[in-house]
Amino acid sequence: MNSELNLRPLAIALAAALTAIASTVVVLATSLPAYAAEAAVTERPWMDVKLDADRRATLALQAMTQREKLDWVMGWFGSDFRDKKRNPAALPFSAGYIPGTPRLGLPALFETDAGLGVASQATKTPRERTSLPSGLATAATWDRKLAYNGGAMIGAEARASGFNVMLAGGVNLLREPRNGRNFEYAGEDPLLAATMVAQQIKGIQSNHVIATMKHFAVNDQETGRFILDARIGDADNRMSDLLAFQMVLEQSDPGSVMCAYNRLNGAYACESDYLLNQVLKKDWGYKGYVMSDWGAVHSTVAAANNGLDQESAWEFDRSAYFGVALEEAVANGHVPQARLDNMVFRILRAMFDKGVVDHPVAEGGAIDFAAHGVVSRTDAEDGMVLLKNAGGVLPLKAGAKKIVVISAHADVGVLAGGGSSLVYPAGGSAVTGIGPATWPGPVVYHPSSPLKAIQARAPGASVVYHDGVDAAAAARAAADADVVLVFAQQWVGESVDAVSLSLPDNQDALISAVAKANPKTVVVLETGGPVLMPWLGQTAAVMQAWYAGTSGGEAIARVLFGEVNPSGRLPATFPMSASQLPRPVLDGDPKDESKRFDVNYHEGAAVGYKWFDLKGLKPLFPFGHGLSYTQFAYSGLAASQKDGKLQLRFKVTNTGTVKGKDVPQLYVAPQGAKWEAPKRLAGWDKVELAPGESREVSVTVDPRLLAMYDSGSKSWRIAKGSYKVLLARSAADADAASVNVALEARTFKP
Ligand code: BGC
Repeated sequence: MNSELNLRPLAIALAAALTAIASTVVVLATSLPAYAAEAAVTERPWMDVKLDADRRATLALQAMTQREKLDWVMGWFGSDFRDKKRNPAALPFSAGYIPGTPRLGLPALFETDAGLGVASQATKTPRERTSLPSGLATAATWDRKLAYNGGAMIGAEARASGFNVMLAGGVNLLREPRNGRNFEYAGEDPLLAATMVAQQIKGIQSNHVIATMKHFAVNDQETGRFILDARIGDADNRMSDLLAFQMVLEQSDPGSVMCAYNRLNGAYACESDYLLNQVLKKDWGYKGYVMSDWGAVHSTVAAANNGLDQESAWEFDRSAYFGVALEEAVANGHVPQARLDNMVFRILRAMFDKGVVDHPVAEGGAIDFAAHGVVSRTDAEDGMVLLKNAGGVLPLKAGAKKIVVISAHADVGVLAGGGSSLVYPAGGSAVTGIGPATWPGPVVYHPSSPLKAIQARAPGASVVYHDGVDAAAAARAAADADVVLVFAQQWVGESVDAVSLSLPDNQDALISAVAKANPKTVVVLETGGPVLMPWLGQTAAVMQAWYAGTSGGEAIARVLFGEVNPSGRLPATFPMSASQLPRPVLDGDPKDESKRFDVNYHEGAAVGYKWFDLKGLKPLFPFGHGLSYTQFAYSGLAASQKDGKLQLRFKVTNTGTVKGKDVPQLYVAPQGAKWEAPKRLAGWDKVELAPGESREVSVTVDPRLLAMYDSGSKSWRIAKGSYKVLLARSAADADAASVNVALEARTFKP
């Protein structure tokens, strides 16, 4: 640390005080007589809300000194880190802080993690906030509105907690089912993942809080994330991981993008000219700013010139690359002044555009925890995927006399994933003292008890809990029950991948023993992602509940009892074994983070079900799969083309006896043209229908999903020919209805 940096905390504290005064002045100005407000705008023309964000950012930038500009591009951590003390102006235990320019009425940026709600860095006194279910659970709803509502809810809590930047918007594709952060993301398909994450971002930004699309790009495993080089060709990337990011930008315009830790084809993501300048800013026309991941910067000149706009939490990097070093690099011309100006312009523009300047945040806002708990519960319920239901064991019947609930601390709570996204529950974890206490721990259970919620719905029954530690004892306890509910869990977290696809801690043996003693065994899975199920044939039912969030226990019970009809569909393929994966063994060594290595994404754009289709592999459960307590029939599939866009129409009917929601899925399969895989998801809808009710559904297909990307001409190309459209219940639905369409050749950008 040099002397300039040592003085910084003082300067920052002073700056924070000035910001407070300045924002008071701004607030006063709005309540002043019109002539006084006009005078304020005359002095600070960038405060004129009638001007657009570009103009306001330009005017504010023009009024700035070089020192003030430099302050915008170097962020601080919100907690003590190693030998470095927290910047006192940052919100305690938060992810980050960027001092504003109080002299000009431009507020500081207060950053919080992340996608499931307002998180805290490790501390004994965290913020206690509402947690959504995992990102995969939200993706499993396939319900745009629910994703938006969840985003709006966590954005409101961020705002009420004094944050104006939320580091939420993770859309890395599930290429690797063992990835320890899959639970933060939205699955394996670019269209589904992008659609759901974009809705979440829109919800967050509806609170005048900047959201952050991350981790750009191909940060698809945690093992070796700081040192690995993700190898994938441009066209393959543009049709898979990059397509997901591109669609998120188009649909939700996040204020910021976070570049990833890993390298991509040689260059670190946060100093990749290809990723940041060429693809993001040039080809896609992104107007917001790029912040680094925490500790992802490795240079000053290369990072600045290649497109990084803001170094996050400089304490994590080997050096304060965007501090004095950047100041010098600009002074001596290695980084053009115009580039520094553009970095700041982008940050300011996002602040004006998303309302951060006009709607200043303050800590201590009211939070309606009861209402937010319902938002989280609804999301969790609709994201539960009923994988198997033999003999109609579910929904649970009112007449049951004895129900045995086993394992996974289901007597007190539901598991959460670990790492920076962890939202600490009100009242603390329901279980303490297990798993890693430090990063990426602690292991937290949201105190929403499945057992209590089940007991409340079975007043006439004896509902007992067994911890499952002794499998034989659990089996004995289960033998004479009317139904047995075994809860199985897999804790994963940021920075660590699952060591295997198998459930840990001998849970397979526990489930097997219990199911042998009582075939009416229902397994409820609380996992970060796909797991293997060697006991599947022995059990009556399996429900994937993911990490179910703040109200998870209630949500699980409501679905088990049929108060809510399950309507989740898998956002990822569940393999039969690791040998079916493109990389049966994970690359890298979790114990040695020193040697750079390659991850060769040889499957290219054939991610998930596309890989399984291409290789003719039968998964354990296919992408898109999920059962209901009712049945749906499809009819009248028809295709038409309007203004070069393919439109599909069909009718869905609830042919069963209870109300329910269905997710009819459309896949397109080229009959002549060669794609990366036999078919792609082209659209879907989620419809709720009463028994006997029908609904007409219409879906317009994004032309990129009918095309191949051509790197040479940087364009998408649809090949002339015949394409089969399938109306299906999953990516492996053998009974799908279909219609053939003839497409003309077409080339388009971007
Ligand atoms: C994670 C980011 C997170 C940041 C701040 C990093 O370790 O990769 O997703 O936003 O920390 O906590």
